[in-house]
Amino acid sequence: MNVLVTGGAGYIGSHTCVELLNKGHGVVVIDNLVNSSAKAIERVEQITGKHVDFYENDVRDRAALDRIFEKHDIGAAIHFAGLKAVGESVQMPLEYYDNNLFSTVRLCEAMRDHGVKNIIFSSSATVYSGTNQMPLRETDVTGMCTNPYGWTKYMSEQILRDSAKAIEDWSVVLLRYFNPIGAHSSGLIGEDPRGIPNNLMPFISQVAIGRRDHLNIFGNDYDTPDGTCIRDYIHVTDLARGHVAAIDYMVEHRGESVFNLGTGIGYSVLDMVKAFERVNGIKIPYEFAPRRAGDLPKLYSNPDKSAELLGWKAEYDLDDMCRDTWAWQSKNPMGYGE
Ligand code: NAD
Ligand code: UFG
Repeated sequence: MNVLVTGGAGYIGSHTCVELLNKGHGVVVIDNLVNSSAKAIERVEQITGKHVDFYENDVRDRAALDRIFEKHDIGAAIHFAGLKAVGESVQMPLEYYDNNLFSTVRLCEAMRDHGVKNIIFSSSATVYSGTNQMPLRETDVTGMCTNPYGWTKYMSEQILRDSAKAIEDWSVVLLRYFNPIGAHSSGLIGEDPRGIPNNLMPFISQVAIGRRDHLNIFGNDYDTPDGTCIRDYIHVTDLARGHVAAIDYMVEHRGESVFNLGTGIGYSVLDMVKAFERVNGIKIPYEFAPRRAGDLPKLYSNPDKSAELLGWKAEYDLDDMCRDTWAWQSKNPMGYGE
């Protein structure tokens, strides 16, 4: 099947392109490169030995979408394109609502008008309300988001859910990611944040390569065994394979479905620092700093529904995640910028 991958030059999108191509799917990418590099697409081609049709366009550009749907026989779309920095979304809410919601609406309209009936959406564990017990199940309460980014995911889910009800024969799969980290085992593609990394693993690996002198650990007085926050980190290749499994599932199912993509295992910030040090033999200097606003003490998934219905389970462990993060960072000290 030919799959349109929006945001396919980005971190998760590029890894998903590799897994789709490896499974024999055709891949068409639309990405405006606002947070990525065209080099990622070249590297995807290098890893797989296969061609990617790449369009440098904005997903909100309806005419560009029309041209793509006219030129390629697309069977499904995976919609990764979006802005994702939580803090930035608080500073620039209108830009986030514009980019993340209008890209979803334009894409759905173009799909409807061109008779494309299958869409997978990159949602997030952030849509779950902070009142739920861990581990999180797909049926748990959503909403009460703490920032505009989270609301764009919540609202996009609703837009897609309503579209699946209204448009005949549509299939919508909402994938709620936990914390993707790591990189392709080749070290050729990985996460390349612009500016100071917001997320833990890119920060650790930039300390390891010498771009930052130490890690600030935000809070060591949480109600967790070592006082630091617990998250469900998942290898990006496992996450990418979850999308391939969802494509297979979609072909057989109509309407709306929602799945967690996580491992079900929680690790603390200190666990992550120690694992990175042990696996890669590199010391990560750190200091404890005040809590970061909006962080929940514990967030991890129950991934049983994905195992049962998608036949998908995360296979890589924490050591693999740490090793592959460092393989990417050490081979590409400045990311794609070099
Ligand atoms: P990323 O920034 O690396 O990838 C997003 C891509 O979309 C980038 O290549 C960017 O250039 C592109 N893009 C953004 N707006 C666009 C637009 N209007 N038109 C065309 N292209 C556009 O981020 P990622 O980590 O790969 O995340 C992919 C998706 O998964 C995002 O929707 C993100 O919100 C979601 N998600 C990510 C995480 C995470 O921790 N990385 C967790 C949960 C959900
Ligand atoms: N952390 C630090 N120091 C840092 C960066 C992070 O101590 O420099 C801590 C955070 O306080 C948190 C943990 O590391 O306790 C993980 O933080 P991340 O920013 O890596 O991940 P989050 O769980 O906060 O958020 C991520 C994505 C969101 C997504 C969410 C879903 O960034 O987009 O997962 O669970 F919504």
